[in-house]
Amino acid sequence: MSEGLLLKLGGSVLTEKRRAGVADSQAIVKIAAEIAAYPDSPLCIVHGAGSFGHPEAHQYGLARGAGRNNRQGIAITHRAVCRLNQMMVGALLEAGADAIGIHPLSGSWARAGRLVSLETRPLQRLMEMGIIPVLHGDVVMDEVQGAAIVSGDQIIRYLGEHLPFARIGLATDVQGVLSGDGRVITEISGIIDPEVIAGGSSHMDVTGGMGGKIRELQELASHGVPSEVFHVSRLPDFLHARPHGGTRIRGVRDHG
Ligand code: IPE
Repeated sequence: MSEGLLLKLGGSVLTEKRRAGVADSQAIVKIAAEIAAYPDSPLCIVHGAGSFGHPEAHQYGLARGAGRNNRQGIAITHRAVCRLNQMMVGALLEAGADAIGIHPLSGSWARAGRLVSLETRPLQRLMEMGIIPVLHGDVVMDEVQGAAIVSGDQIIRYLGEHLPFARIGLATDVQGVLSGDGRVITEISGIIDPEVIAGGSSHMDVTGGMGGKIRELQELASHGVPSEVFHVSRLPDFLHARPHGGTRIRGVRDHG
């Protein structure tokens, strides 16, 4: 298989942040059209939860795990993020792309909040057939704590480590990784002090906002895999390998 693209769509670009369970349908349709217009090259998408899933996970305290008292939250949170997945996949099909929803809960495993296994063979085969697998941040059953919230960024990290992608991009609602004075940090290499990064997580964000994202991408970089963070309005630029004004997180073995 020629190496394809791995794309994360932040939950905040697909949903209305402040209104639980409300999707930004216009944004979803626009993004789907841009992706459908991308030439016939393998693509895998992972999206976040935004206001579908974060409020539920927060309400049931799932970030700390699950047991008898909060086990209901597993199904409720999963259902919420699956609804968003269905909308994203529906919009892609509508736009003429072949896409299929894949739910990490069904076959993945976490240990103390970290994703440790996810079956990648079906994803590879789907991409070889020209079908876009669309995964999402999800509740995943956990060896240590019952269940865990696994962010789309963790899934990106896992897939980036286990499948060969030509480029990995994260479309967000900010221009890139911003420094304390609001400027885009164009390149991050090595370990960056989290203090210099602006934009912490909101109280509803159970997976750590920009700080959590950078942690995952730096882990990916430590395996030699670079990634890029950019504003969703620049998605066509990323897809077509043009400059997008965002941040490149450089792999430690990557001198490009
Ligand atoms: C969260 O996924 C998954 C949940 C079920 C809460 P993400 O952490 O990737 O979602 P966003 O992109 O921050 O909204």
